[in-house]
Amino acid sequence: MSQHDHFEEEEFDTQFNGQTVLRLIRQGLAHWPLMFGYLLAMLLTATMDGFLTFVSMRIIDEGILAGNAVLLNQLVIQYGLGLLLVAIGVMGFIFSAGRLGERVQYDLRKRMFARLQDLSLSYYDRTPVGWLMSRLTSDATRAGELVSWGFMDLVWGAASILISLVFMAMIDVRMMLILVAVVPILIVVSFRFKKKILVEYRDVRKTNSKITGAYNENITGVRVVKSLRREEGNLDDFRDVTRTMYRAGFRAAWLSALFLPVVQLISAVGVSSIVLYGGWQFQLGATTIGSIQAFIFYITFMLFPIQEMARVYAEMQQAIASGERIFSLIDAVPEIQDRPDAQPPPNLRGDIVFENVNFQYEEEKPVLRDFSLHVKQGETIALVGPTGAGKSTIVNLVCRFYEPSSGRILINGKDYTQWTLHGIHSRVGVVLQTPYLFTGSIMENLRYGRLDAADEDVVNAAKVAGAHEFIEELEDGYHSNVGEGGVLLSLGQTQLLSLARAILADPDVFVMDEATSSVDTLTEALVQDAMDAILARRTSFIIAHRLSTIRKADRILVIDDGRIAEQGNHAQLIRLKGHYYNLYTKQFRDERIGSAQPLLQPQKLVSA
Ligand SMILES: Nc1ncnc2c1ncn2[C@@H]1O[C@H](COP(=O)(O)OP(=O)(O)OP(=O)(O)O)[C@@H](O)[C@H]1O
Ligand SMILES: [Mg+2]
Repeated sequence: MSQHDHFEEEEFDTQFNGQTVLRLIRQGLAHWPLMFGYLLAMLLTATMDGFLTFVSMRIIDEGILAGNAVLLNQLVIQYGLGLLLVAIGVMGFIFSAGRLGERVQYDLRKRMFARLQDLSLSYYDRTPVGWLMSRLTSDATRAGELVSWGFMDLVWGAASILISLVFMAMIDVRMMLILVAVVPILIVVSFRFKKKILVEYRDVRKTNSKITGAYNENITGVRVVKSLRREEGNLDDFRDVTRTMYRAGFRAAWLSALFLPVVQLISAVGVSSIVLYGGWQFQLGATTIGSIQAFIFYITFMLFPIQEMARVYAEMQQAIASGERIFSLIDAVPEIQDRPDAQPPPNLRGDIVFENVNFQYEEEKPVLRDFSLHVKQGETIALVGPTGAGKSTIVNLVCRFYEPSSGRILINGKDYTQWTLHGIHSRVGVVLQTPYLFTGSIMENLRYGRLDAADEDVVNAAKVAGAHEFIEELEDGYHSNVGEGGVLLSLGQTQLLSLARAILADPDVFVMDEATSSVDTLTEALVQDAMDAILARRTSFIIAHRLSTIRKADRILVIDDGRIAEQGNHAQLIRLKGHYYNLYTKQFRDERIGSAQPLLQPQKLVSA
């Protein structure tokens, strides 16, 4: 199941949270002119609606039935003006509610996005991407709509009903009381129905995302499904979920079909009571035909706001739950923050020292224990060792993506927590295992290394990295699009670009999580040259898989279970005949034999 679908459908039966509601309203109040405009337009519309029915009563009684042509003309003009005002009011409130909804969604998304930039990597470890995506998309929409249409509909509905009641009281208090008996029944029934329908539809959607997930798994994993002979079992599971969906869908359809007739039946009871009572009163001369007609209008007129209020009420809890999740993201505190007295570092040159560092990602699961290491300015350190040993963890700490749980990391003799995060990050160049390119041109992507770089500098960096040649061969050269996430380039090319980016940035410390040997020998040679260019003069940490890199390193650290098992240069470690020797003879010898032929053909590059 795709994560996105999964996190989309969360339970919404959370408790009514007044604080979240207040915060959402405050979010709307930031745009108070829109809210104010809405309220004005809404009051105008509701009043005019009530007024029109009132005028139509007078048209019948005092104009038509009384045969007063002059008054009739006046009343018709009043009616026309009233209609015009209704039109203006409706336009006004649709416009302001629409704008308000957009603004609130935009604000919420902006605040969440800003927070996501600040949060430490540890937050991302705990929080699935799908969860975050849902917060930014569907939750923001839902909360924004609650603030605009939702709350507004509630106010509008209540105002419409009250204003109608006032007009009715002006016409005939006893007939109004008959309606007042029917309205609560209508409200209760509508609210209950809407809630039930919503629950059923939510079940349908939930099951639907399960089905999509099942499709997804079975189609993308079709080879595994077949090889594991899972066809039968999968089919049974699939039948179960589709059946659940069918049942929920059936119930939802039934409830929806029942809803309107039931509401109409109740209002019909109201209408017939009015007609019966009104007819009797009319014969006694106590009321008029126009009044009866007006009351019939008022009751049908109240149906719509009641249904709207019921819908908003039903959806409100879901939207409030969305708001709660949004605020939980906005309120999240980055675990790694600048100390209050943090300064930007002048540079990060100097020795890098791990001093009795302990580190864990999760409680009770230490990854590094009492880890100490002294790296000299300009030294190139290669980290090797089995998977899960802690190599990436060590470089994560160097980059200050995480901080030691205890112990210190010193750069040029100073605890690095006294520098600002921004200062550190802008002086450490990082090339990750799977380098990431942003949608856009090659030029733009390289320039992320140093935003104020001139075009010439960018091209020079690409030349040093050995990327210039393949870029020139592209149809649009440096302006070729790399596709989303760099999908239009091969892995080797992507690596060359990210190395060029690092060369352009000219960092003091260079960190690389080297990709495994998925580039051909020719690209490998280019990558090697690019790396030599970067490694010269700066302190570097490289999680190395290529023998060529490892051999050139000043020092090789063999990491095992969070400790330095062995260290020294290639020749020393070979002589030791320990871990490194074993690793070398088992793994790298294969690589040397294999490298006679490219392991993988570079993908053909398509320029967009
Ligand atoms: N984000 C994380 N949250 C929790 N535990 C983690 C996290 N990252 C790594 N670990 C754990 O920390 C230990 C060290 O992981 P690390 O990524 O440093 O290994 P590595 O040496 O880089 O391995 P590889 O060669 O596979 O990349 C492992 O036991 C791993 O399960
Ligand atoms: Mg790793």
